[in-house]
Amino acid sequence: MKFTPEFIERVAEANNIVDVISPYTQLKPSGGGLMGRCPFPDHPEKTASFSVSETKQVYHCFGCKKSGNIFSFLQQYNGMSFREAVEFLAHRAHIALPVEDKKESDKQDLATQKKRKVIEANKLAAHYFRETFKRLPEGHPAKVYAEKRGLDVDTQNEFLIGYSSDEWDGLLKYLESQGVLAAVAEEAKLVKARSQGKSGHFDLFRERLMFPILSTMGEVLAFGGRIIEKGEPKYLNSPETLAFHKGRVLYGLYHSAKYIRSEDSVLVVEGYMDLIALYKNGIRNVVAPMGTALTFDQAKILRRSTKNVVVLFDGDSAGIAAAERSLPVLLEADLHPKGLILPDELDPDEYIAEHGVLALQERIQQATDLLTVVLSQWMQGYRGEASQKVQLADKLRPVFSSMQDPRLKQLYVIEVAQKMGVDEKWLKTALLSQNSSMAQKPQENLSNQNKPAEMQNSAPLMKSVANEVPETKIFLKGIPQAEQLLMAMALKSRANFEIFLKADVIPALQHSGSREVLERAATVYRQSPEKFDKLISLLTTCVDNPALLMAGLPLGKTDIEIEVANEEDSLILKDCIRKVRDLFLQNQIKQLTLELKVQNSPEKLSLLAKLQKERIQLSKL
Ligand code: UTP
Ligand code: MN
Repeated sequence: MKFTPEFIERVAEANNIVDVISPYTQLKPSGGGLMGRCPFPDHPEKTASFSVSETKQVYHCFGCKKSGNIFSFLQQYNGMSFREAVEFLAHRAHIALPVEDKKESDKQDLATQKKRKVIEANKLAAHYFRETFKRLPEGHPAKVYAEKRGLDVDTQNEFLIGYSSDEWDGLLKYLESQGVLAAVAEEAKLVKARSQGKSGHFDLFRERLMFPILSTMGEVLAFGGRIIEKGEPKYLNSPETLAFHKGRVLYGLYHSAKYIRSEDSVLVVEGYMDLIALYKNGIRNVVAPMGTALTFDQAKILRRSTKNVVVLFDGDSAGIAAAERSLPVLLEADLHPKGLILPDELDPDEYIAEHGVLALQERIQQATDLLTVVLSQWMQGYRGEASQKVQLADKLRPVFSSMQDPRLKQLYVIEVAQKMGVDEKWLKTALLSQNSSMAQKPQENLSNQNKPAEMQNSAPLMKSVANEVPETKIFLKGIPQAEQLLMAMALKSRANFEIFLKADVIPALQHSGSREVLERAATVYRQSPEKFDKLISLLTTCVDNPALLMAGLPLGKTDIEIEVANEEDSLILKDCIRKVRDLFLQNQIKQLTLELKVQNSPEKLSLLAKLQKERIQLSKL
């Protein structure tokens, strides 16, 4: 169910952006507002350039130009979806989520309650595992192994790495001592009921190094447990629970979201140890699907933060297969996938150990399109025989049909045709034509089976991508400078906004974005003038570049300061209004002059004179 604007507003009101941001950077009063060092990692800075306005409930960094409201902060910094950000803040303020009807609501409440209990039990379990690890004596195989894998104490603390002991009920007892019922621990899949009529439960994870799997909100959703040294299975993962759906979670994202956002790119590695190895070595824009090929849901999660993905899978056959399977999924989510398969069947962790992080960084820099990487795998042994051409076209069909951008498709057709040594036209037809001969059919089915179930019909998929982005986006791209300044100055203070409204200048705006933004602001303000301070924060959710709304602010002015009309500000605003009007008149005059050249008309001529007079009057103001 979609949240209503009223609900979203209520949630925003119940939380203070200053409290939400404070844990990430120290904010100090400065010039009437709050300033701190930017919490985003893309520009190391010594001086504070990140400002937060408590009155307006927005933030803006003068260094990296990231700005937004309380929701977009959580989206940008933690990789949450808009919905998750609303839910997180609702939970934080003890506001119940809206429900449609009573019966559904009871069922939903129960499921939500159960899920919360599972997450609570997981949190306690993570603590227990971590403490168990810390208490291990020096020389214990688990400790020795962790050290051998380069898991230093800082890394252990950051990723909450723990140990499950060889007792059969250590965790169970601990959870019970903390008031967690065995039934809840079982629901969390932390313990299992004994079989064959025996009563009681036993711990699921034993003698394993424990990797808690976190949500974007930092909740413990599940665990991966690695055996010490050798044994089967190498990793034991929590089964699916109310809180954990493997295909919808990315390991490491809680830590890496801000880096992904800052670098505008993400590396996808296969598993826990690869992710930690990269992160620890300073490559922090990284996530890991846990041992499976990337799912469409995971691709959509990435798309919130960036479109640029580099798939960095092991050079073994499983890694190559996973890279191949990820390709259509990433394309379907309208991402730009690049790929890198490491040599000598090394995984990223081993590669760093052997060649160092710089060598890996260099390889990442040079990563080519994932399609090229996959194609070169598929073309091993290719001699350009007719049957090979047809086979390859069949393999490529699902890849091409998942491409969302027709321009990209066009370019790939050219590139691939060249590599295959076929005519572009032939390839295009071959990619479109579904071979209907009986012999071909089983193969088609096979390639369809290989696709994740949710990919078999692409229409509903695209809808769900669209849902991730608020549908009301207003594009401010290409907005003329005069209008940009007008917008920022009008929103700067209430006094300015009053001047702007009186001037009735909206119809003179040329850019549809600025017109729409200011129209919306005017509507809200006319209905409830007390909402003035909230205008920028409200508009933030629906524009592509919120920084443009804040350009006029030294943020954080107090209400009293805002009430006092600032002489200089109002002069700048009036000048902007004049410029926008003048540009509007100039355009009209230009248009009329052109029309008059084609056909003379006395009405148009007199209109032209009128417009020119208006321009002169404007310049005298
Ligand atoms: P790998 O076998 O490549 O493991 O599996 P790894 O991450 O390199 O682990 P180390 O370096 O041997 O410790 C990649 C991922 O596949 C999942 C895990 O998420 C793992 O990180 N996996 C692997 C399992 O879930 N179960 C397994 O038995 C093996
Ligand atoms: Mn490994």
